[in-house]
Amino acid sequence: MEAQLNRSIKEVIKDFPPVEKILDEYGIGCGPCAVGLCLLKDIVSIHNLPAEEEREMMGRISQMIQPGQKTQIPRVERKPEAKPKELNYSPPMKKLVDEHILIKKWLALIPEILPRLDLESEEDRQMIRDGVDFIRSYAGRFHHAKEEDILFKYFDEDLDMVKVMCEDHRTARNHVKAIVEAAERKDQETVAQHLTAYRELLSQHIKREDEIMLPWMDQRLSVSQVGEMFSKFQEVEEKMASYQKKYEDFISRLEREYRKKEE
Ligand SMILES: [Fe+2]
Ligand SMILES: [Fe+2]
Repeated sequence: MEAQLNRSIKEVIKDFPPVEKILDEYGIGCGPCAVGLCLLKDIVSIHNLPAEEEREMMGRISQMIQPGQKTQIPRVERKPEAKPKELNYSPPMKKLVDEHILIKKWLALIPEILPRLDLESEEDRQMIRDGVDFIRSYAGRFHHAKEEDILFKYFDEDLDMVKVMCEDHRTARNHVKAIVEAAERKDQETVAQHLTAYRELLSQHIKREDEIMLPWMDQRLSVSQVGEMFSKFQEVEEKMASYQKKYEDFISRLEREYRKKEE
C-alpha cells in the first residue's frame, strides 16, 4: 500500500477502477480530471480531508487494493498548520485565485443574460462586445497571460497539467471568436451556444486551478521562486493598472442591471 501512495492517481485507478468511486464519495473527482499527474498521497494532502474521513477513505482504498489483508492504514503527512478543507496559497497564487472571483462573477451572470438577450437591440449588442472585452482583456491578456507567461515558465512545458490548461485557454479564445462573429450577424442561437460552452469550460478550469493545480505548483516552488513570481505579477499589474477597477466596475454594473430587471 505504501508503494501505491507514490504512484500517479491515474495509474492506481487504471489498475483498481473502484478506487475512482471511493474518491468520488469523498468529493475528490479524479476520474474526469484530464490532468491525473498527482500521486495518490498528493490527492489526499491537496484536498485536505478531515483526519477521520482521510483514515476511513484510506482504509477503504487499502481494502480495495489488498482485500482481506490486515494493513496498516497509511497516514499521509501534511503540514500541521493546514486546517481541514482550507487551502493555503502563497501570495502570488492568492492573486490568481482572487482574479478568478471576478471571472466567476461574469460566468454567473451568463445564464441571467442569455434568456433576455435581444441582438436586434444595439444596447444588447454593446453588452456582448463589453463582455467579450472583459474576457479578452481581463481573463485573457491580464490573467491567462500571468499564468502562461510567468507561472507556467517555472514548470516543464511538456507537463500534461500545463498543456491541458493552455489548451483550455485556446479553446476559450475560439469560443470568444465565435461569439464575436455570431453577435455581428445577430445570430442569437450561436452566441448563446458559445457563451454557455465558454461558461462550462471556464467554471471547470478555474475549479481545477484553485483546488488542484495552484496548490500542486505551490508545493513545488521554492521560496525565492515564489518571491520572484510575486514581483513579476506586480510588474504586470502596474502596466495594466486600470484593469482591476475598470472590470470590477463593469461586473458591478451588470450585476446591478440584471438584479434590477429581476425585480
Ligand atoms: Fe487558466
Ligand atoms: Fe486562472
